[in-house]
Amino acid sequence: MLKNWIKAILLLLLMLVLVVGAVLAKSPFPLRYWWQHPKETFLLNQGRNPRVVALKYPPVKPLSAMAILGRKLFYDASLSGSGRLACASCHDPAHAYAPANALSVQLGGSDMRQMGVRAVPSLTYLYRQPNFSVGPDNPANEDSNLLEAAELAETHPLAPKQAIGKSRLVPQGGLFWDGRVNTLQQQAGGPLFNPLEMAAASETEVFAKLQHASYADDFTRLFGANVWRQPGLVVQEALFAIARYQIEDPSFRPFSSKFDAWLQGKARLSRAELRGYLAFNDPNKGNCAACHVDKPTRDGLPPLFTDTQYEALGVPRNPAIPANKNLHYVDLGLCGPYRTDLETQMQYCGMFLTPTLRNVATRHAFFHNGYYHTLGQVLDFYRFRDVAPQNIYPVVRGKVQRFDDLPLVYQKNVDTQDAPFGGKSGDTPRLSKKDKQNIIAFLHTLTDGYMDASH
Ligand code: HEC
Ligand code: HEC
Repeated sequence: MLKNWIKAILLLLLMLVLVVGAVLAKSPFPLRYWWQHPKETFLLNQGRNPRVVALKYPPVKPLSAMAILGRKLFYDASLSGSGRLACASCHDPAHAYAPANALSVQLGGSDMRQMGVRAVPSLTYLYRQPNFSVGPDNPANEDSNLLEAAELAETHPLAPKQAIGKSRLVPQGGLFWDGRVNTLQQQAGGPLFNPLEMAAASETEVFAKLQHASYADDFTRLFGANVWRQPGLVVQEALFAIARYQIEDPSFRPFSSKFDAWLQGKARLSRAELRGYLAFNDPNKGNCAACHVDKPTRDGLPPLFTDTQYEALGVPRNPAIPANKNLHYVDLGLCGPYRTDLETQMQYCGMFLTPTLRNVATRHAFFHNGYYHTLGQVLDFYRFRDVAPQNIYPVVRGKVQRFDDLPLVYQKNVDTQDAPFGGKSGDTPRLSKKDKQNIIAFLHTLTDGYMDASH
């Protein structure tokens, strides 16, 4: 009798051990996590955020009269030399203010047949972009508030960025892939007068068009009738209005993704998304968060998935860009040719701004030169660049043309040590095929529109 009773208990215990074992085996967390942070690990294992945060969003207010004028200008194709390109043609609101098509670079110019030189970035989430500067590094992960990041941080205080060198003075901030302008207002003049883009001939021409625009009265109302005596001023105010529109309109920063919901405890990540999130943060795997910061700041501002710093990744040369037909042409990012103030700073050659990954799954051309067209290709670049370069770069007479878009002297600026890079040809990539799929699933949680944008 007693024996059977003991047997039953033993059997029950065995079943319990098996069930717990099965849960642990399926869980992406090592045993010590369960041991050290049982509650957090339990929640995270279910796809829930163990440290729900109250995020501080920029206030949503009705647009000012200036921003309303800016909206009209943003959509007005008549300002361009061809009469066919508006800001919105390349920065389409239905595609997170990036192009709807999959071209590496866009068509523009006065005849609409000139091709650009760089991929069109999204205009979303620029509202906290600092001015360009070269200054001390500010540790990207110091704001971590999730258990695995906090724990991993004990052994990896900050994923080191070898490419930056020993001085921790790093270029950061600014707009465009090379940070050459600081304010949105300064910026808008760029594409408007760029011969490859909107190709407006001159200030006088734009002034004449504004004078006859359907919204000309807005200028009179806002700035007084005298403004029409100063063509330069009218154009400046127009650029200012476009900037105000981008700053004020909430569609440029909706924060309505599944990830935003998750941060606030309003959504659960699927198994694949959770595993992707962990690989994205793991300093030995994706290490993506070292540059594409995914933690809210200490004062509760939502993460923007960029540390706003510059890196040389050695993206392959893109033959789809006509400028690249000229073998002497190289886009070196920070050291030119589109900015000239840093051209002697060799240590910055080949560096480009780390873009936000918010809405990245809606893009069709990736990296500054738009070389890749799917997230799968981008992930393979991160996986294979160092361990199977023949999959990434052209092979000419049996020789892999590694970093083929950078002159030899600048190739040392490319980081070849820190994850997800590193290793030598033939090594196993740090990211498995499964990690790749999971990270892509996670990146899809950054697409806006999952929840209502009114927070
Ligand atoms: C023909 C396509 C095209 C048109 C039209 C266009 N842009 Fe762009 N835009 C680009 C490209 C390409 C870049 C990146 C250029 C670079 O980095 O050198 C860019 C970059 C930007 C950036 C910087 C974004 C960032 O992440 O740093 C802003 C802001 C911007 N454009 C606003 C505008 C405004 C405002 C207009 C209308 C006045 C406009 N654009 C018209 C192609 C276009
Ligand atoms: C060392 C910093 C760094 C790390 C680590 C890093 N990135 Fe990037 N990422 C960048 C920079 C810089 C660019 C732009 C490079 C260029 O265009 O030449 C970029 C571009 C991208 C783009 C293209 C976005 C666009 O709009 O074109 C994607 C997608 C991306 N990264 C995803 C990832 C993922 C996923 C990981 C982890 C596996 C990762 N990154 C790791 C710095 C980094």
